This record gives sequence, C-alpha cells and structure tokens, in this order.
Amino acid sequence: MSKQSNLDRVRADIVAQNICSELAEQATNLVMGDGNLDAEIVFVGEAPGKNEDEQGLPFVGAAGKFLNEMLESVGLNREDVYITNIVKYRPPNNRDPEPEEKEAFWPFLLRQLEIIQPKVIATLGRHSLEYFLPGARISEIHGQPKRINLNDQTVVIVPLYHPASALYNGAMRETLMNDFAKVPNIIKRVNERDAVLKIMTE
Ligand code: URA
Repeated sequence: MSKQSNLDRVRADIVAQNICSELAEQATNLVMGDGNLDAEIVFVGEAPGKNEDEQGLPFVGAAGKFLNEMLESVGLNREDVYITNIVKYRPPNNRDPEPEEKEAFWPFLLRQLEIIQPKVIATLGRHSLEYFLPGARISEIHGQPKRINLNDQTVVIVPLYHPASALYNGAMRETLMNDFAKVPNIIKRVNERDAVLKIMTE
C-alpha cells in the first residue's frame, strides 16, 4: 500500500473511532497534515487554528507564513518537508489543547510518523515537545537536537519554539530563527551518520 493510502486509513480511523468528538463537532475540517510523504524532516505543531480549520491544511495562517519564511531562509520549502499537528481538530477559540486531547491524538501522530519515517522531527512549541521528550523544558533545550527511539527507530528531535509565539516578540523571533538555522546541518549530520552505519553493517 502507498504511504498516502496508509495515511488515509489513519484519517479514517480517527473519524471512525470518534476521537475528540466535541472538537470534531465544532470543526470544519480534520487537519491531518501536508507536504512530502518522503520528507527527511517532519514539523509537529499544536493544533489547527481558524485558517487551518477552514482550509483543512496545517500552518496556513500568520504562523504558517512565518514558518514558510523560515523554511525558505534555510533553503527548504513546503514541498521538501511534512507538516502536521499533535491535535488534528481546531480547539474552540484557539485555546490550548487539553491534555486528554493530546493523549487521544498521540497514537495517530505516531502512526503518521511510522508511515512517513522522517529522520528528524522538529517540534513547534511545548505541546508536541512534551510527548517526544517528556519533562523537557523548551526554554532549556530549544535548538538542541536529541536522539530518541520512536516506533523502534532512532530519530532526532529538534525542539523549536512555536512560530506564533515569535510573531510579535522580536527576541523570540531571533531565537527561533537562530535555532531554525541549525536544521539543515542537523539533517546533514543524521544522513552522514546513517551512511557510516550502513557501511559498517554491509
Ligand atoms: N498553529 C499550530 O500549532 N498549528 C497550525 O496548524 C497552525 C497554527
């Protein structure tokens, strides 16, 4: 089965299992994700906002525009990467996702990642970070890659601040852009390491 049909099955399961039915009832769209299904890097945000809910696509509002700018600044674009959120329905009035909502969607995010198989996962904000690196504080570890085991595979987590938090805060914007600038080199190092491991096991 293709990656797309596997992802379609994840979407269908979210609907069939009535995940977060209260959120689903007031949402226009279930926002699964968007981008390259063979991406080396996946970005994981919090939850869709108003624009995302209307269009059914992640990060298409103001925070998304800033994310696009940062991608371009490091020579990437949306077609090179995959973008999703931990929670797939818009919380009312853009409130923070509740712990139970994140918990309910986490297994589906894991399935998405198992299908896409990225080498690097960049978390955008604390809501997705806490699931990949439990107990980590974003203020202490932002921009520092950490290797973890996920779905029985080694993957590198890059904790980043959420683009929305940097929109109107100059200092945060600079911090996020500096952290973002490290991303291409992190992907390069992961690929080099994989190449060495491949030679050693041949
Ligand atoms: N903020 C998020 O966390 N995700 C989106 O898709 C849009 C804004």
